[in-house]
Amino acid sequence: METIRIRTRPPYRISVEPGLLQHSGEMLKTLFSSGTRITILVSETPGKHYLETLENNLKAAGFDCLAFSVPPGEKRKNLQTVSELYDALINAGMDRSDCILALGGGRVGDIAGFCAATLYRGIPFVQVPTTLLAQVDASVGGKTGVNHEKAKNLIGAFYQPRTVLIDPELLRTLDMRERVSGFAEVLKYGFIADAALLETCITRRDAILNAEDLLLLTDIICRSVRIKARIVEKDERESGLRMLLNFGHSIGHAIEKASGYALRHGEALLIGMDAALRLSIRFAGLAPESQARFSAFLNALPRPRTDLQLSPEILIDNLRYDKKNKNRQTRFVLLRAPGKTLIRDDIPQTAIREILETLL
Ligand SMILES: NC(=O)c1ccc[n+]([C@@H]2O[C@H](COP(=O)([O-])OP(=O)(O)OC[C@H]3O[C@@H](n4cnc5c(N)ncnc54)[C@H](O)[C@@H]3O)[C@@H](O)[C@H]2O)c1
Ligand SMILES: [Zn+2]
Repeated sequence: METIRIRTRPPYRISVEPGLLQHSGEMLKTLFSSGTRITILVSETPGKHYLETLENNLKAAGFDCLAFSVPPGEKRKNLQTVSELYDALINAGMDRSDCILALGGGRVGDIAGFCAATLYRGIPFVQVPTTLLAQVDASVGGKTGVNHEKAKNLIGAFYQPRTVLIDPELLRTLDMRERVSGFAEVLKYGFIADAALLETCITRRDAILNAEDLLLLTDIICRSVRIKARIVEKDERESGLRMLLNFGHSIGHAIEKASGYALRHGEALLIGMDAALRLSIRFAGLAPESQARFSAFLNALPRPRTDLQLSPEILIDNLRYDKKNKNRQTRFVLLRAPGKTLIRDDIPQTAIREILETLL
């Protein structure tokens, strides 16, 4: 089993192994005493596939188990849902020594983590992420929260879990769009910090996306988690270094929003990274042959070719509201070469517009 220590305050471990779901009870016994009540918050599809196995396993290890479902849809990731969950948890007699466990993708992880951070001013929290995106990104770093009508993730808290159990085998039931969406984040880690990971992604693309080779999946998940962990440890509260994780995200977010969220986050990120690579030739000295090769790879990944009707004006307007802006200038994370980044906030609007025009 691979174990990654996360040196945040408080520190914790992320464990990665195919089949780990079947050992979740044993794993949690090292952290919680027998008889602890573990309340599982779960969404529909992961619940259908994995809840029974998880519950049986936890009960066999001596835990008292309870499960509540989180309603489907990103629209329900809001304070109303949190409030309903507080009611359910309080009515079930939850106390401060009990634990909340999130079984699901990033959405369930964010909601469950926020409930855990706030109920009784904080109760123990465990994550069992079930999407590639949640395994390599959302479950690492301690960000929890919900959306506000005005924008995504406006309400939240930094709250570290007691542990994260990652079972790559769970990705076998995930549909291709979700796999590609998570894969985009893995590619991002390759671009910003690990040229060898990027090459593995390029040469083993199909084996990764088909979730055939669980050892390969374990390897790319661990490498991704380590990169995010090392960045988050140095910048727990998002004051600087975490900015690197935003590679491809400024334009990616603008596209995701302009599509009315018809594109998954990672699908929009593929386009955003393509744009960042193109800007990198002129503003970071990236070799044009590298850009051409990487952009071709990003564009060949399966994603819906819908008529998105995106105009550069709408995207530029969306860029103005990027949370990472400084003095109203969009900050771009660019690449000098794979694994070597450069942050620039002085890119002229005309250059951004030109790139957007070539993309759309
Ligand atoms: N906290 C963070 O640092 C962070 C980082 C990135 C994203 N996020 C948040 O994560 C959310 C996106 O996460 P996501 O991409 O995991 O999406 P998601 O949680 O919405 O899950 C995507 C879909 O996959 C289904 N699913 C989940 N696991 C499955 C499995 N094993 N088999 C079959 N189907 C499965 C779900 O039911 C859902 O329909 C957003 O709300 C985003 O804001 C948070
Ligand atoms: Zn992202």
